[in-house]
Amino acid sequence: MEDDNDSSDKVVDHADVRVEMAEFWREQSHDGSLQEMMLDENADELDQEERPEILAMLPDLKGKRVLELGAGIGRFTPSLARQADHVTAVDFMESFIKKNEEANRHLGNINFLQADVTRLDLPQESVDVVFSNWLMMYLADEEVSALAAKVLSWLTEGGYFFFRESCFQKSGNKKRSFNPTFYRCPADYSAIFSAVTQDARYVYEEQFAGRAVKTYIKRKKNENQLCWLLRKVRRDGSHEVK
Ligand SMILES: C[S@@+](CC[C@H](N)C(=O)[O-])C[C@H]1O[C@@H](n2cnc3c(N)ncnc32)[C@H](O)[C@@H]1O
Repeated sequence: MEDDNDSSDKVVDHADVRVEMAEFWREQSHDGSLQEMMLDENADELDQEERPEILAMLPDLKGKRVLELGAGIGRFTPSLARQADHVTAVDFMESFIKKNEEANRHLGNINFLQADVTRLDLPQESVDVVFSNWLMMYLADEEVSALAAKVLSWLTEGGYFFFRESCFQKSGNKKRSFNPTFYRCPADYSAIFSAVTQDARYVYEEQFAGRAVKTYIKRKKNENQLCWLLRKVRRDGSHEVK
């Protein structure tokens, strides 16, 4: 049965969430199609219109090291790689990462990594921009919070974290036998990121928060496809402009 319920008030057990989310994506991964990436039967049209809209929200990637989390089959990977110096594309589904690699390895500046982002670790200050499109909604609150803290440490000073999520409701019309996705309210994301206080020197500064994807408003009357751009800045307010 299709489950459209808001699941953000569920009792969270991380191990259970990991198992459930892996199961959800196993069920959604048969042919590594755009329909599977967007969980929508009209994915081809939606992708054509929304992809440039999303990419236009990113900071300049020229010369930058980009980390793409939840990259899937690589809807965004080649565009990021063509602009940036280097991209590390991460996804926990082996079939998706393989498809991405087959399509895009020729670009020569992409590292394809099969990993669960909740278990990922990278050197401090090793990336300039982190990009994710529909990932946090597959993580429990505490996992989003832990990832937010890690990303802050992985970013260089002045670096950016872009993410886009489905808030309140699902985005796509593809059938799901079960749906463990967390359709949060946007204030929850802002609260989680502003509460990252482990780093004594740095915090996230919102460049924009909860910016709606116009394609979904126009095509699906859905105002709840929302984007954030955060910047790593010094806690004392000063930052070196690069
Ligand atoms: C809705 S798809 C979006 C894919 C891609 N970002 C796009 O916009 O086309 C979500 C992706 O996140 C991946 N994913 C979900 N949870 C993950 C996790 N904990 N670690 C790594 N990848 C994850 C899924 O395998 C899937 O490829």
